[in-house]
Amino acid sequence: MSMKTIYILNGPNLNLLGQREPHIYGHDTLATIEGLCRTKAKALGFEISFHQSNIEGELVSLIQEAREKAQGLIINAASYTHTSIALHDAVKAVGLPAIEVHLSNVHAREAFRHHSYMAAATRGVICGFGPQSYTLALDALAHILNQKEKA
Ligand code: DQA
Repeated sequence: MSMKTIYILNGPNLNLLGQREPHIYGHDTLATIEGLCRTKAKALGFEISFHQSNIEGELVSLIQEAREKAQGLIINAASYTHTSIALHDAVKAVGLPAIEVHLSNVHAREAFRHHSYMAAATRGVICGFGPQSYTLALDALAHILNQKEKA
């Protein structure tokens, strides 16, 4: 059987990681996080397809693309987490197991970051662990997909 693929999607301003508010988001760039994810996915026996967009509709299209090309989804929708019914609906529509991630602990920050439209569409949320939030999500998703295989 061919290797399973996990789509990892990143929303607005995450292309600026490394320069953007490093006291909150750290010094690692998105390319570094992609590298960490590739290494982790390889160890778990999965392939990843890693994307970033500043545009809400493009993220909707990538989620729809994942329906054809992937078995699971990890999404850091960034600020769209707190605003986007379109992204919520897209994740629901494709029906893939999905995990919401954030670098920062959104619950320890401003009140407007405490609500997530993504959370109700995903299996769970991992936030506050910096780049490790992504690798923890890969572990969790690999577990879900491996359980599915056994069922
Ligand atoms: C973020 C948290 C969001 O509230 C914020 O808008 C982001 C990044 C994070 O990874 O910590 O852009 O998703």
